[in-house]
Amino acid sequence: QRGIPGIQERTLVAVKPDGVQRRLVGDVIKRFERRGFKLVGMKLLQANEGILAEHYHELRRKPFYPALIHYMTSGPVVAMVWEGYNVVRTSRAMVGDTDSAEAKPGTIRGDFSIHVSRNVVHASDSVETAQREISLWFHSSELVDWDCCDYSNTY
Ligand code: TYD
Ligand code: MG
Repeated sequence: QRGIPGIQERTLVAVKPDGVQRRLVGDVIKRFERRGFKLVGMKLLQANEGILAEHYHELRRKPFYPALIHYMTSGPVVAMVWEGYNVVRTSRAMVGDTDSAEAKPGTIRGDFSIHVSRNVVHASDSVETAQREISLWFHSSELVDWDCCDYSNTY
């Protein structure tokens, strides 16, 4: 046990194709860095229907599901794993409401999105979902544990 419980919590955040196409990747990363979270995994990939069918399994019967899969495969996604205290809940607050009109200014969706179908970013909605989504999008060897700047043993 290192420090307060939940300090090593992890979540999956993804910049969706519209976010990548609109050059918002850096802005999303900047917000998570500034907040104090630690980046432990990141990759740009073209997601296929297989991974998205698993990722959005719970939504498979929703009327918007086919359009959602089409949009999510329309360009590359930047998948990231962020770590830190309460990161799952705090990330959802940073991302903002699913409905862009309800997303508060200051949140990612509240600053960059006007429609639910192009809402720039994904973040896991619970610790259990995060664990499932991280193992879906990342192999354990792609996640890196690292510590803050250590100036001991300098020459
Ligand atoms: P959901 O998991 O409900 O939202 P969130 O991304 O906030 O966790 O839905 C997943 C995605 O499905 C959502 O980000 C965008 C898309 N979606 C629509 O296109 N239309 C809708 O009416 C809803 C509810 C979601
Ligand atoms: Mg969701």
